[in-house]
Order: sequence, then structure tokens, then C-alpha cells
Amino acid sequence: MSESNSIIFEKDKDLTHLTTFGIPAKARLFAEYTSVKELIRISRSQEFLDNEVLHIGGGSNLLFLHDFDGLVLHSAIKGIERYDKDSETVFAIVGAGEKWTDFVDWCIASGLSGAENLAGIPGEVGAAPVQNVGAYGVEAKDIIHSVECFDVETRQIVTFKNKECGFAYRDSNFKREWKGKYYVLRVSFRLSPSTEARHLDYGSLATLEERLGYLPDIAQVANEVITIRNSKLPDPAVIGSAGSFFKNPVVNKYYYEEAMRALDPDIPCYPVDEHNVKVPAGWLIDKCGLKGKQIGGAQIYPGNCLVIANTGNATAKDVSQLARFVTDEVRRRYAVILQPEVNYIDTEMEVTILGSGTSKGVPEVACDCRVCRSHSPFDKRLRASALVHTHGMNILIDVSPDFRYQAIREELIHLDAVLITHSHYDHVGGIDDLRPFCAYHDMPIYLKEDVNRDLHARLDYCFRPVPYPGVPTFEMHEVGDKPFFINGLKVIPIHVNHGKLPILGYRIGDFAYVTDAKTIPEEDIEKLEGLKVLIVNALREKKEHFAHMTFKEALALVERVKPKEAYFTHFNHEAGLHEEMEREFPPHVHPCYDGLRIFIR
Ligand code: EPU
Repeated sequence: MSESNSIIFEKDKDLTHLTTFGIPAKARLFAEYTSVKELIRISRSQEFLDNEVLHIGGGSNLLFLHDFDGLVLHSAIKGIERYDKDSETVFAIVGAGEKWTDFVDWCIASGLSGAENLAGIPGEVGAAPVQNVGAYGVEAKDIIHSVECFDVETRQIVTFKNKECGFAYRDSNFKREWKGKYYVLRVSFRLSPSTEARHLDYGSLATLEERLGYLPDIAQVANEVITIRNSKLPDPAVIGSAGSFFKNPVVNKYYYEEAMRALDPDIPCYPVDEHNVKVPAGWLIDKCGLKGKQIGGAQIYPGNCLVIANTGNATAKDVSQLARFVTDEVRRRYAVILQPEVNYIDTEMEVTILGSGTSKGVPEVACDCRVCRSHSPFDKRLRASALVHTHGMNILIDVSPDFRYQAIREELIHLDAVLITHSHYDHVGGIDDLRPFCAYHDMPIYLKEDVNRDLHARLDYCFRPVPYPGVPTFEMHEVGDKPFFINGLKVIPIHVNHGKLPILGYRIGDFAYVTDAKTIPEEDIEKLEGLKVLIVNALREKKEHFAHMTFKEALALVERVKPKEAYFTHFNHEAGLHEEMEREFPPHVHPCYDGLRIFIR
């Protein structure tokens, strides 16, 4: 244990019982706070400033894939304050560290309606707006009035109104762009001073009135909900799980009618909006015959296929492998890709080199040199691009004209976001082939403002008000000087010069990818310090190039920023054979090759 300004930081904290999965994991540092004052003190501490920070709630939606090499924070801000606005509205302001079930019990005991359908949900109040928890026809967003948060950067308290939180099905801004930026301190709920139950449409609640012979009150609804939950979901005190492991996929109505119902006319669905329906993932998994399927200690819960249960000795690897197996089976049968509702905490990173060649690739068309004639697979270089896998996400850096082949080769089935370095054809020529990954959501693309303009001009057909059906659709995010977040993952833009053209490289944690650089301004060189892995372009050995670094220039950068390991990429045929480079580079510098996987932990 260490103390900083009287805050206690526990070392190697066992997190097993801080998640409902009950799967062993540790945090290098852990701290809990009971007030905003304590949180401010934590946010000023060296422990906070020097480490990756993860804020947890009741741990009902977390899967630690390995020990967390950073600081885990937990709120123990308690209290429920009641404000009676008028005869129809009561506000309850609830501390983030209160148990959700205690809050629902308090509502029932106080004769306040609104939360009764959400009875029995594990977790804490602070997580309710993040996940927009929901059950039996009601979502947290239906009763949340506003959310009081701590702004991590300014250390000020900010309050967001319901409409500002971007609530959607099991989603909110807190889960995406606000992750790591704001910590929930207190949630204000708008309730009605009445014991009358209002939401009786979902499933067996619809027959409750008939069964009782009178209109049920909120206590009876809460009891009924708890009874259904107990019959469908494992008891968290006995069997570890995270409730629903997957989200119910939202699919296009046309696809549901034409393709899915053709496979199974009985397939159920719930309406979402004019164009989309939600299909129960539990039903799809069940139909794939996976009830009870087990990998190691992880099992598809026989009472409800939407749940992955820890039968006692499951490891995180068992759970993630089983989830992968289920996703693959459902994809094969229904061509629907399930997304986990559970948050994978995975600070390890795997980078796959999709292509390591310069704009013409190697071999060059119509070239007869010894490198272009080499039969070694290490000398076949597609146009440069890399795939980063971390925090359960796949992030593509650049979309080369060879992307279609690269995606097939790597069996890529899911993509969360794309980072673009610049708009030269060899880095964006494959964008139209992102189509399969845009089927379920507009693909977020991060790029500079001038690159965004270029792409709008070149891919004008994708940006028309009414695009041709099936063209890829994007969500463009312009990147400036500041770090930005992809589902909470911090990405630091690195400004480099491709000859005279200012372009971007990217740093994610201890990894950075810089391509097509000739020079790097001093302040951006500093952003590359302390890396475990640097991937950087190195066109060829000797002959200078106006826009690309040679081996010598790339080695000088490595010498300057001192990453633990460096990998050179973006080679042309003058770079020589892979085996020659491997021999000649210093021991901590390696030539990339297509398909190379680099693990960063
Ligand atoms: N189904 C099967 N086999 C199964 C599981 C379900 O055929 O193994 C079928 C059911 O018979 C039903 C349909 O799938 O026709 C839907 O099942 P259910 O009503 O249990 O709801 P769900 O869509 O599976 C969602 C939430 C639950 C919530 C319930 C009730 C998600 C991801 N899950 O489940 O939330 O309790 O509705 O509102 O939206 C949670 O988030 O942890 C959670 C438990």
C-alpha cells in the first residue's frame, strides 16, 4: 500500500470479487474515493498522472483479459437525496457508489414509480447511465434527468442533461467519446410519487394484471421482474456471469424479412425504428445448438443462451474463446455479427502488418530486379497498412488499395474504426472495400481536415444526401493537435512531414505508427518518447528521397526516441531482401513483412 495526500493506493489489488464474473485478475494499483474532494486529490497524484486509469462500477459488465497494469478507481460516493418538485415529480439524486438494487428498493419503499421494471439488475448507480441499463421495457434513460460528472481534465464538476448524454440501446456518450474524460459522481432520476405501475407491455408482465385480477402496483411489478430474472439468469452469488454477454443485434428490416426469415420463419424481432429491428441474440445462439457449449470453465448458460457462465474455474481466455466461437457460429448461420455487451479490459495490443511495401508494392509491376524476382514470401510486399487489436477493438491504420486481399488473408470480420495518415492513393485506395464493415454502422474514420476534403471529392458518391444503396457509409472525425478517444481508447496524433506535405502518424499507448515521414518536428518527436514499439517508414538504404526516410534517417530517429523495439516498413525494391535487412539492422530494429504480428504488453 502507498499513501499520497492521505489517499490509499492498494498495490496488486485482487479484482476477482469486484466483477460479477468472478474471474481472477489483479490491478497494479487500486483506489476508492468517498467524496469529490478525495477524487480531486487522487487526480492530482503521481499514481494517477503516471498510469493508465480505469474507472469501474459494480463490475457487472467487465471482463479483465489479464491483470490490469495501471490504476483502477472505484467510487464509494453514497447517498440518496429526495426533492419533491410538485405533485407529479420527485427527483432522487443518487451517489454513483450506491448499489442499483438498493436504489430500486428505496424507490419501492418510498412509493415512487419509474424504476420498478429495472429491479434486480446487478451493478452500481454510476454505471447505469454509462451502459444505459435496461430490462422489461424500460431503460435507465427513461428515468434519468441529468448526470453529475467529474471532468478529469479540468477537475471541475459538470452536469449533463439527459438529452446531452447520447443515450441509445445499451449505449451512451460515456461509453464512447466521453470514456476516461468524465467520471459519474451522482445521477438525478425523475420519478413519480405513485405506486401505480406504468410499463406492463413486456413479456409476461403483460399478463400480470390478468393473473392477479387487479392492476399491479410497483412492488408487485418489481417482484415479478425479480422472479423472471431468477428463472432466466444465474444467481450472481452462486454462478459468475455478466448477465447478457452479447447485445441484441439491430438489423435492417429488409435484411430481416428477406434473408433471416427465409432461413427461419419463426425468428423473433422487436421494432427499433422505421428501418431497423432488434433480433434476440439468445434465440440465435440457441438455434445454433450452442446451449451448454463449454470451453474450459466457460459455458453458454443452459437456462439462457445470452449468458456466458463461469462454472467455477473459468479463465478470461475461456470466456473470450467461447464468445469468439459463438460469434463465428452465428455469423456462419445468420450472417449477423454479434457485439459483446460486456466490456473487454484488454490493455495488451497486437499489431498486424497488412502491408509493408511502398506505393508500387514489391514486386513492382514489370520489374526484373533480384528483389522483385525473389521467391521468399517475406519479399512480397503489399501497400502499407496495419491493423491494431486492443481493448476488444480492431482499428485499421490506412486503407491500402490491397485492403480487400489483406482483409481476406487476415480473416478480418469486424472493424471498429479507421485512422488515416494522409490521402495518397496507396494509403486510401481501398476505402470502397470497407463496405462489408459498414453494414451495421457508419465506419468512424479519423483524419486531417485536408484529407477529409480530398476524400469527399474522390468518394463523392458516398457522401450524397441519398447515396446509392450499399455504398460504404462513414462517420468522419477531423483530427487536430489534441489526443482523441475511440470508445475510450486514447489516440495521440503525431504530426510529421511527408516532404512538404504535413501528414499524421498515431500513438496508442506504448505503440506508434509513423509512415511516409521525411522529417518530424521537435515537439512531435517528444510525443514518441518512452515507446515499447515504434513502426516507422524506411524506404531504402542509401539513395536520399525528398519525401521518405532512408534506413540511415530512420535509424537516427530510433536512436533519438529510443523505443524498446523498432520495425521498419514502407520498403521499395531498393531496400533489398528481407533476410539481408534482418542481418544488417541493429538487434532491436527489424524489417516488417506482410502478416507480421507484433505483441505489445
Ligand atoms: N431466447 C431463446 N433462447 C435463449 C434465450 C432467449 O430462444 O436461450 C428467446 C426468448 O425466448 C425470447 C427472446 O429470445 O423470445 C428474448 O429473450 P428475453 O426476453 O429473455 O430477452 P433478451 O432480449 O434475451 C434482454 C436484455 C436483458 C433483459 C431482458 C428483459 C439485452 C442484451 N439483454 O434480453 O438484459 O433482462 O431483455 O428485458 O438487451 C443484461 O443486460 O444483462 C440483461 C440481462
